[in-house]
Amino acid sequence: MTELRLTQPDDLHVHFRDGDYLATTVPATARQFARAIAMPNLAPAVTTLEAITAYRQRIMAQVPAGVPFQPLMTLYLTDHTEPALILEGARQGLIHGCKLYPAGATTHSHEGVTDIRYLDAVLQAMSDSKIPLLLHGEVTDPAIDVFDREARFIDKVLTPLLLRFPALKIILEHITTEEAVQCVQQGPATLAATITPHHLLLNRNDLLVGSIKPHYYCLPILKRAQHQQALIKAAISGNPKFFLGTDSAPHVIHKKESSHGCAGIYSAHAAIEFYAEVFEQYQALSRLEGFSSHFGADFYGLPRNTKQIILEQEDWEVPAVLSFGNDSLKPFWAGQTLRWRLRHDG
Ligand code: DOR
Ligand code: ZN
Repeated sequence: MTELRLTQPDDLHVHFRDGDYLATTVPATARQFARAIAMPNLAPAVTTLEAITAYRQRIMAQVPAGVPFQPLMTLYLTDHTEPALILEGARQGLIHGCKLYPAGATTHSHEGVTDIRYLDAVLQAMSDSKIPLLLHGEVTDPAIDVFDREARFIDKVLTPLLLRFPALKIILEHITTEEAVQCVQQGPATLAATITPHHLLLNRNDLLVGSIKPHYYCLPILKRAQHQQALIKAAISGNPKFFLGTDSAPHVIHKKESSHGCAGIYSAHAAIEFYAEVFEQYQALSRLEGFSSHFGADFYGLPRNTKQIILEQEDWEVPAVLSFGNDSLKPFWAGQTLRWRLRHDG
């Protein structure tokens, strides 16, 4: 096969950042995707309807002319989020999801939630208005090993939550473990998960063997190969509970190559090509469209896209570096070859 036609995909989890950075991130995502769920972990976090509206406008200002891209906005949950805000945001069609960062779990999460039990009324309002809860699924207890934080979150937080809010749509974001795959497979129809390209293409040996690769550091951290295999199996399975969410999360080079390197991998420059690479390796290209273009929209209750994109088989090299505001950025797979390329006139 040398050409692959797909319904235009959606990225159900992306970090556009803000300010000058939007000039890099927004066109990259809009080139491939019809829609993207925009994460709210700015500094300060996007915690009000006014902040959502203003952030949406800043993103829209960077969408190239004539491109019908739509950012889908999210609200950042705190210990003090009011249920009335959810109801009003839903009524206006402004909020497509609410993101729960356990306080301290990752980049710009310090304003996040210290105990999910504070949120009962908020979660009920979300359930009533069919707004999905987007979970960063890791516990933050310093006593818990960083490689066990997702599995522990499933037992301690997610399992009880599913029982307490049976009608609430929940997306366990960027899953990294066999335990998460099983939980989602066996869980109710209200539970789904996103899977990133980096968790499909890498495992913790890639991060740590020989030398430490700061550009492969992300949260949840890469796990052992057996978990990577479980994620690949889930992604290519055709099970509609697993769908595309890149978690593309850029940081300038000096913040990655640092004694305190930031978590996050930028993959928006070639997102759909990364997934095509994995699906082809496992002879599953015929399942890529469901994962990338149907299942996420279905779960969110959005219409499926009608336009198509075309991927061509053509080896190309990912640039070593990209400009990023006044700074620079190392894209995922920098200097390495990819086998599929998005056709521009697709
Ligand atoms: O690696 C990550 N980077 N994981 C997250 O959860 C947040 C993200 C970011 O915003 O940098
Ligand atoms: Zn993220």
